[in-house]
Amino acid sequence: MAMHELDAFEDALIARFREHPVLANIALLADEDFRALLLQRRFASLAFTPFYDLAIDLLRDGTGRRIARVLLREEYPGGNGHTPSHREDMTHDLRRLGVSRDALVASRPTAATRRALGDAFELIAESGAHDNGDLRLLTVLRFWGEVLVSVEYGRLWERMGPRFSPAGKDRSRFYHPHHVHDAKTRPLAGATPLSGSHSDRLAARVVELLAREESSDCFRELTERSLQLKTAFYDQFLPALDRAGA
Ligand SMILES: [Fe+2]
Repeated sequence: MAMHELDAFEDALIARFREHPVLANIALLADEDFRALLLQRRFASLAFTPFYDLAIDLLRDGTGRRIARVLLREEYPGGNGHTPSHREDMTHDLRRLGVSRDALVASRPTAATRRALGDAFELIAESGAHDNGDLRLLTVLRFWGEVLVSVEYGRLWERMGPRFSPAGKDRSRFYHPHHVHDAKTRPLAGATPLSGSHSDRLAARVVELLAREESSDCFRELTERSLQLKTAFYDQFLPALDRAGA
């Protein structure tokens, strides 16, 4: 399959995810349900760095490992203890969105959240077992960990945006910056290691590894399975959408 066909394939998956009923109707959720969704989504963010660490452990490709290490370290800026991590930035945004400290403390992952995260961990572990594990691992990191994350935050931002100011100390520190810097901004073939976005930086290596393969089957399989994991996570909020009368 030619690269532009793979682009069309993954763009269709991205479009399908954008239209997940919960994401497409995020404005309709009751405030309480929206905050509950954000608290569940937080557990995926907390699990994000161990996923990267697992993938780095299993990568045999030095170039891919280096890209992944850089992206992982960006999550923890500053070495002197004065700079919040991206996860702390998320908590900052959550507080601004009305999530109390008590709610944060009391929050636990639901069975559906635990399953979605356990399945993602399994997908990475299983990817590493293949001969072409490097391509598989980078495909999952990119699509599950960056491309689709940007889609999620883009949708959530439609509802959150008015709660933040565009700049200054009341700006979004987590959701909006990640929506921007995780996004797929170029076609696969146009990505370079110096591209700004996380998706594009990983795409540069994914494309090089794909060129060594006879088929692009594993790329399509893993992007589809990544989408399924994300879909399963959001399906748990369909009842909340029903309650909202959508
Ligand atoms: Fe990222």
